[in-house]
Amino acid sequence: MRTTVFIRTTAIRVAAIAALAAAPAVLAGDPPAQYAASCGACHAVGVAGAPATGNVEAWAPRMEKGMEVLVASVRNGLNAMPPGGLCNSCSDEDYADLITYMATAQ
Ligand code: HEC
Repeated sequence: MRTTVFIRTTAIRVAAIAALAAAPAVLAGDPPAQYAASCGACHAVGVAGAPATGNVEAWAPRMEKGMEVLVASVRNGLNAMPPGGLCNSCSDEDYADLITYMATAQ
């Protein structure tokens, strides 16, 4: 009996994990997973001159530089922004997703 219960709980756990893994990284309108723990710390309200999330006007001159330049700014740091923007596990693609999210009206 115990074994059956164990197997059942394990199966449910595996199914739950599989469902989570299958969920798209960025749900429409939701911030990318890393946002709250990294970029959001400064960009949510625009700390130290950071262009604020959702403020399309503040982001416009930044976006003109092109995504590659912006990703490099995050990777290398820029003035008050530390290298990596507090997300050292982020890939360039993650940075691009985060930038697109922040530069879009919420
Ligand atoms: C400690 C605060 C802080 C964190 C955390 C932070 N930023 Fe920034 N960010 C800034 C500030 C301040 C600026 C404005 C820098 C300047 O132009 O002087 C900035 C500017 C930028 C720019 C514009 C760069 C350019 O070349 O004009 C991008 C893109 C950016 N941040 C992306 C991110 C991303 C993506 C993250 C998260 C991975 C992040 N930031 C995390 C403070 C932060």
